Amino acid sequence: MAIQRTFSIIKPDATKRNLTGAVNAKIEAAGLRIIAQKRIRMTRANAETFYAVHKDRPFFGELVEFMISEPVVVQVLEGEGAIAKYREVMGATDPAEAAEGTIRKEFALSKGENSVHGSDAPETAAEEIAYFFAGMEITG
Ligand code: CMP
Repeated sequence: MAIQRTFSIIKPDATKRNLTGAVNAKIEAAGLRIIAQKRIRMTRANAETFYAVHKDRPFFGELVEFMISEPVVVQVLEGEGAIAKYREVMGATDPAEAAEGTIRKEFALSKGENSVHGSDAPETAAEEIAYFFAGMEITG
């Protein structure tokens, strides 16, 4: 499996509860390297653009309000098969369905307040990384 990069967000429910380090420990324990990271407050425009694919879903408004409610930590993760590996480490979207030991099983509050985001494919990973990071901010 090739070395890949994926994009991660530690979401407001996790930053608010001081869980940034705990989430990062799970990421690193899985063998993924955090090769870029910054704590930001998303603007409404950022959140609406980032989640544009969900704009017709009933939870879109709630999702945008949540993502701008507190700071988030955006990250680039690198490793063997990083996209699939991070999705495994995150666990299912709904924490009630997430496997033992996953980030969402341990920390997420609900389907919406689910602590982390991870890219779902190489194309989205590249787009999401480029939206939040300049090339010089990423050091593998
Ligand atoms: P994420 O991986 O960031 O991508 C889309 C997000 O929409 C998802 O995580 C959840 O936070 C959110 N989401 C998905 N389903 C629901 C739902 N039923 N209610 C509220 N938010 C949801």
